[in-house]
Amino acid sequence: MSTAAFPAAVTARRAPAIALDRVAKSYPGGVRALDDVSLTVEHGTFLAVMGPSGSGKSTLMHCAAGLDSPTAGSVRIDGHEISGLNETRRTELRRERVGFVFQAYNLIPSLSVEDNITLPLRLAGRRPDRDWLRTLTERVGLADRLAHRPAELSGGQQQRAAVVRALAAKPAVVFADEPTGALDLRSAHQVLDLLRALVDDLGQTVVMVTHDPAAAARAHRVLVMADGRVVEALERPSAPQLADRLVTLGER
Ligand SMILES: Nc1ncnc2c1ncn2[C@@H]1O[C@H](COP(=O)(O)OP(=O)(O)OP(=O)(O)O)[C@@H](O)[C@H]1O
Ligand SMILES: [Mg+2]
Repeated sequence: MSTAAFPAAVTARRAPAIALDRVAKSYPGGVRALDDVSLTVEHGTFLAVMGPSGSGKSTLMHCAAGLDSPTAGSVRIDGHEISGLNETRRTELRRERVGFVFQAYNLIPSLSVEDNITLPLRLAGRRPDRDWLRTLTERVGLADRLAHRPAELSGGQQQRAAVVRALAAKPAVVFADEPTGALDLRSAHQVLDLLRALVDDLGQTVVMVTHDPAAAARAHRVLVMADGRVVEALERPSAPQLADRLVTLGER
């Protein structure tokens, strides 16, 4: 089949969404938070990262997202090498190609939901795509909440607003660090369903750090980290399989 059958957006993006090659991150004092990590995340895939506290999950996410720079190795976001870029260029690249969702939502209390959602775009000097934002807010069930302040929403609704904010700039990758960590079971399910639907329906790429095996089991692939290294990569594992693997980590 000719590639002409595919939409331009699909064929234009040949480079992986994320490519890490032999990445290391050391902190002053000798903590080696990442030790020789290589990985590739293809567009349209959902990757989960698990591992004990202190194993380097957040550090991996921060380096892969251009929030932090590694001490060694190469990081490419959507084909663009970020190691070696100065802070300003790295920030620009991040604003253009990366979206974030955090455990604590990080919405600004004094702004309406709508202003929260469009804030990163406005900071980047870009005009919001109103049709895209309407599609997203309808999809997450927040279309009638746009004028509300975050405090007037439930935790699950706030996190869905944070997901919309992360997607507003049509990023190559959305990084989510324990996005369901503060949510009750039902809201957590809704947020996971949403992330999964974004991958399935829109071809969005998602990288999610989580301690919850049931959440990680929604991903296509799960990396397990220990002591700054990726010690396992599992394809579509089940939640019980993951729980078992985490418990036996370090026992062999
Ligand atoms: N800014 C920093 N300065 C010094 N050490 C740090 C810094 N940030 C992280 N570390 C250390 O790097 C290691 C990895 O930390 P990281 O936050 O990536 O772990 P994590 O897997 O995300 O843990 P958790 O599950 O608790 O969030 C830890 O030993 C941590 O103490
Ligand atoms: Mg962490």
